[in-house]
Amino acid sequence: MIGTPRVHWRLTDSTNERARELAGAGAPHGLVVTAGEQSAGRGRQGRAWTAPPGTALLLSVVLRDLRETLPLAAAVAVCEALPGLDCRIKWPNDVLVGGRKLAGILVEGRPQEGWAVLGIGLNVSVEEFSGELAVTATSLALEGHAASSNDHVLRSLLAALDARLADDPGDVLAAWRERDALRGERVRWRDGEGVAAGIDEGGALLVDTTGGQVALEAGEVHLLR
Ligand code: BTN
Repeated sequence: MIGTPRVHWRLTDSTNERARELAGAGAPHGLVVTAGEQSAGRGRQGRAWTAPPGTALLLSVVLRDLRETLPLAAAVAVCEALPGLDCRIKWPNDVLVGGRKLAGILVEGRPQEGWAVLGIGLNVSVEEFSGELAVTATSLALEGHAASSNDHVLRSLLAALDARLADDPGDVLAAWRERDALRGERVRWRDGEGVAAGIDEGGALLVDTTGGQVALEAGEVHLLR
């Protein structure tokens, strides 16, 4: 059962760091670490993840049943935990509403030791973002979502994760494709640009370029509007 046991910190550096420590010490599949505040929250691509205290759901899950579709399944689960919101997924797993980022996902693993940590940051009651985030980020409160309490969202998210993380890979891919934010859009990445054409069976992003179709296995793409 995802969410049992649960360890909560009022303040910690990073829930992913806490969960990694616990995983290394033998914590069971499904253990969840949550925090009210992080002093060194980690994002993808070496970036930081910040949120004012108490305004975001910050959680990390220890997983021992490792599936290739894990990063995609997690994004689908976040969307399904928030019925009523038109959530889209920007490859591989940014959760967007109205083109702005509502939630981010960071998977860190030690496959050779048989575990991975799934970290999720979901903006719940953030009323105002500063700097670049003012135009790129959103929160449940800003989207007028009814369930604006962290505990309510957490319960819903744990149930959705429980279902999707154990789901058939084909069903995960199908659900992800229905929420694809990039398909048909022009995208740019470090080495090129083209039109996003969905994901393949391994979760790689397909992009049609002037030189033919390429499959991006990892990294980040930017939307060109
Ligand atoms: C991203 O860059 O989009 C991923 C952000 C992931 C942030 C979450 S917050 C909870 C968990 N602990 C961390 O240090 N990072 C993840």
